[in-house]
Amino acid sequence: MIATKQATGLISPYGGELVNLMVPRDSIVELTTYANRLPSIRLTGRQVCDLELLAIGAFSPLNKFMSQADHQMVLDEMRLTSGHLFPIPITLTVDDEDNVKVGQDIALRDPQNELLAVMTVEEKYEWDMNEVAQKAFGTLDLRHPLVAEMHRWGKYNISGPLQVLQLPKHYDFKQLRLTPAETRARLASFGHENVVAFQTRNPLHRVHEELTKRAVQAKDGVLLLHPVVGMTRPGDVDYFTRVRTYKALAQRYYDQDRILLSLLPLAMRMAGPREALWHALIRRNYGANHLIVGRDHAGPGKDSKGNPFYGPYDAQELVEKHSEEIGVTVVPFRMLVYLPEEERYEEITKVPENAKTSAISGTQVREEYLHAGRKLPTWFTRPEVADILSDTYPPRHRQGMCIWLTGLHNAGKSTTGSVLTTLLHEHGRQVTLLDGDVVRTHFSEGLGFSKEDRDDHVRRMGFVASEIVRHGGIVICAAVSPYRATRNDVRAVMSEGHYMEVFVDTPLEICEQRDTKGLYARARNGELKGFTGVDDPYEPPQNPEIHLDTIHHTAEQNARTILDYLLQNGFVRQDTAEL
Ligand code: ADX
Ligand code: MG
Repeated sequence: MIATKQATGLISPYGGELVNLMVPRDSIVELTTYANRLPSIRLTGRQVCDLELLAIGAFSPLNKFMSQADHQMVLDEMRLTSGHLFPIPITLTVDDEDNVKVGQDIALRDPQNELLAVMTVEEKYEWDMNEVAQKAFGTLDLRHPLVAEMHRWGKYNISGPLQVLQLPKHYDFKQLRLTPAETRARLASFGHENVVAFQTRNPLHRVHEELTKRAVQAKDGVLLLHPVVGMTRPGDVDYFTRVRTYKALAQRYYDQDRILLSLLPLAMRMAGPREALWHALIRRNYGANHLIVGRDHAGPGKDSKGNPFYGPYDAQELVEKHSEEIGVTVVPFRMLVYLPEEERYEEITKVPENAKTSAISGTQVREEYLHAGRKLPTWFTRPEVADILSDTYPPRHRQGMCIWLTGLHNAGKSTTGSVLTTLLHEHGRQVTLLDGDVVRTHFSEGLGFSKEDRDDHVRRMGFVASEIVRHGGIVICAAVSPYRATRNDVRAVMSEGHYMEVFVDTPLEICEQRDTKGLYARARNGELKGFTGVDDPYEPPQNPEIHLDTIHHTAEQNARTILDYLLQNGFVRQDTAEL
């Protein structure tokens, strides 16, 4: 290993000395040249987050992925071998195929293969997934997102000193991404002794505004609004949307002399109490001396029996127990609820027995308000936040849908598709019609009618359709698409509920009678080979969302049947004049 200057810590009025694993500027070129010749491993998204926080000292005093001794002690006693409290295992897991050897220097790269760091491998040890699950997360239940994820991790952990050449690159919200040292400096400039940190992985509503403002007032401090933008619970609102809500709130609804918004690239574990203690240690490194811990802090949802993994206030209790040692006081809150009659929020413990309370759950926010196109009430959230959320979660009638028409040549797919296009335009929707025959002159040009070529053709249409759907458009695909497996592949790339298969079921004899382009005739006399229905199979759909009869119904009637389905499912708005 090339020697670099000893990492220097930073002293701050808030918190202890910070680890800094960044290689000094003047050694970067030399070490990069060296690192580019080393064997390398590619880190996962989670490992990249962990490396970044190690590098900038957010996990101080931890300065590397854990050794076996530290790891064991963290599991058993929540402490590093140095004696410092540290409740969460931070490990670098590798597969045996990675072929990492003890004593070797290896390059650590991000998923895009960018060089991040050099590790001198001092240890490689096996770890026991069940032990970690049980001790760190208190459960083996696969409904726990981290327990489930660990099943995909490698068999070994590696550990050793790190030299970090560059931090993972972030191009978004650059002004809001502060290191612990930068955060401490900014906080110090506010001139308050107390710093109250607020951890969050959710959009902020009035209840959170209440929690944070009460805490800041109680401590006469400054708020460190410190949302997680690394990895949170699967299914959470994406951080781009969330950060837009934080910015709007921080700018308009807080005293500017009492708030600092900064983003934390942490990969959460959803470990409840242990995670809360970890959050406190991390925030101490960023300069806070108080942490808000409310109900179900870092809760992973319910287990497979429908019970919560941790008690709602276990997290408060654990952090309180270690508060003095870590220098972070808990600002505890019981569940806060809204009292509509008094138009204010209050802790549940202070609410009279029969008082009326209001609440809107996260699921209700999406399903009953946003998807239905209803605006969230102002007692629940600020209008700016409501607007940002409704941009991200538009109502059904502004969401995408793929209508896939399948059937024999001449079954009536194109005619039905073009009538439907007109009807949808009438109802105010944007529509793209991808007609198989037309598409064959565009992105499927040159493809023939062999099984492989047909599959390619259908998959290309599926890909384009899925992009249209993702951007909130309606796409009508009219393609013979004779093979069931391929149609199912297309369905699989669409998001659930945004794809409908329509079987345009016209018997072969009828299609053959309508032989507008003379194709059936040419297939019958052997001029065209591999013609669907003649000498190539058509596999009818088994459970299409809609099954159309083209003998007894006109194309317009059929198009209206599809329109009705879209109306019923909210993808087309009922014209108020028709109600
Ligand atoms: S998490 O990391 O703890 O999952 P979340 O955004 O859900 O993030 O919560 C942030 C903090 O606010 C936590 O300390 C949580 O306990 C607290 N909190 C959120 N909603 C309430 C509420 N209605 N009453 C009390 N505390 C709450
Ligand atoms: Mg929560």
